[in-house]
Amino acid sequence: MKVLIVGGGGREHAIAQKLSQSPAVSEILCAPGNGGISEIAQCFDIKATNIDGLCQLAVDTDADFVVVAPDDPLALGLVDRLAALGIPAFGPNADAAEIESSKSFAKKLMKKYGIPTADFAVFDSLDLAIDYVNEKGTPLVIKCDGLAQGKGVIICNTVHEAEAAIKSMMSDEVFGKSGSTVVIEEYMTGPEVTVLCFADGEYLVPMPSSQDHKRAYDFDQGPNTGGMGAISPSPFYTEDVEAYCHEKIFLPTLQAMKMEGRPFKGVLYFGLMLTPDGPKVVEYNARFGDPETQVILPRLRGDLFSIMQACVNGTLRDIEIDWSTDASCCLVLASGGYPGQYTTGYKITGLNEAAGTVFHAGTKKTAEGEFVTAGGRVLGITALGDSLAEAVKNAYEAAKPIYFKDMHFRKDIGKLRETSEDMI
Ligand code: AMP
Ligand code: GLY
Repeated sequence: MKVLIVGGGGREHAIAQKLSQSPAVSEILCAPGNGGISEIAQCFDIKATNIDGLCQLAVDTDADFVVVAPDDPLALGLVDRLAALGIPAFGPNADAAEIESSKSFAKKLMKKYGIPTADFAVFDSLDLAIDYVNEKGTPLVIKCDGLAQGKGVIICNTVHEAEAAIKSMMSDEVFGKSGSTVVIEEYMTGPEVTVLCFADGEYLVPMPSSQDHKRAYDFDQGPNTGGMGAISPSPFYTEDVEAYCHEKIFLPTLQAMKMEGRPFKGVLYFGLMLTPDGPKVVEYNARFGDPETQVILPRLRGDLFSIMQACVNGTLRDIEIDWSTDASCCLVLASGGYPGQYTTGYKITGLNEAAGTVFHAGTKKTAEGEFVTAGGRVLGITALGDSLAEAVKNAYEAAKPIYFKDMHFRKDIGKLRETSEDMI
């Protein structure tokens, strides 16, 4: 089987590496890929948002199966377009991907089907949104409706901040069209846990829990990023919590999507907050998370490709999925300045001396065969261990030999806070 992976970050490197171990996979292609992925896959310089170009590539290369990893091409209907060409693709179609690409759709779905989440209201009028903030008081969370690369969420401690956030989204269009509708939510507290589930439209299998670290600096300070590190499992995700989430959140969500005529196939990502009133959904994503995938997939025993095929074919119920009991930690090494401005093109050294698994994100391989930085998040270093503490220690140890100019990483990955209180 020839498999084309769409995307080019650490998540896609982790997927490519797992698929390269599958007996059924003879060749891997990737668009656009990155320096590390180019070691195990043929990479094509086509952006993940270039839907026509990707369809053409799949046809031209006779791809047997396509894995669509990032949010944008899912929302833009790449899976639908490939299906029309007779090419099976892993990931939800555009209708089902709306569970991520429209927060108002997701919130209304949860309300309709009684799935626990923060109270909310949706506005496409600036004046009404501001009236609502004045009536409710703060803290409140203001979210733009559409995709905003994880940056369209503002936690507001004062009415003044909330008004400024709404104006930045609705009249200054800081997030473009994504912000023309806003969701205003009750502020929740409690530890955050992520659970990714494989889904085939009818049936769902949760993967081990994980947690990413979204802020740029230690102790959850600084701006939100795509994720500076992750751990798996989350120590907060006890068996009781798991049972509750399965019954009250995961299965009802899958069922709701089916009832709405949007059966969900692919990876359904549940961002959860364990509030004093029980677990609630913070967000859904319609795909593997990044960096969560970099801690989850190294724990998967067995064949990722057959699981992906089963999700597409609706046969997930027949598949055994087995996980290592090891804990896992991923440390992201980022360019200095990320998520703001940063310089690229710096030489990366020490990659061969690193003891863990090195997933490439923003890297490029030069004609001389050297790796240089080419993005904000440059590398994800993953290590396993008997315990979380061991995995964390191993990941930091593994990263030690690696160097590039202005390299930045958090020193506190795996140190978890009980509440999100001090974020406001
Ligand atoms: P989202 O993109 O919706 O996951 O939001 C990004 C981050 O904002 C989450 O991981 C939480 O830390 C925080 N957040 C989002 N919604 C809420 C809420 N209703 N209450 C408290 N924190 C929130
Ligand atoms: N790590 C969060 C995400 O992938 O959206």
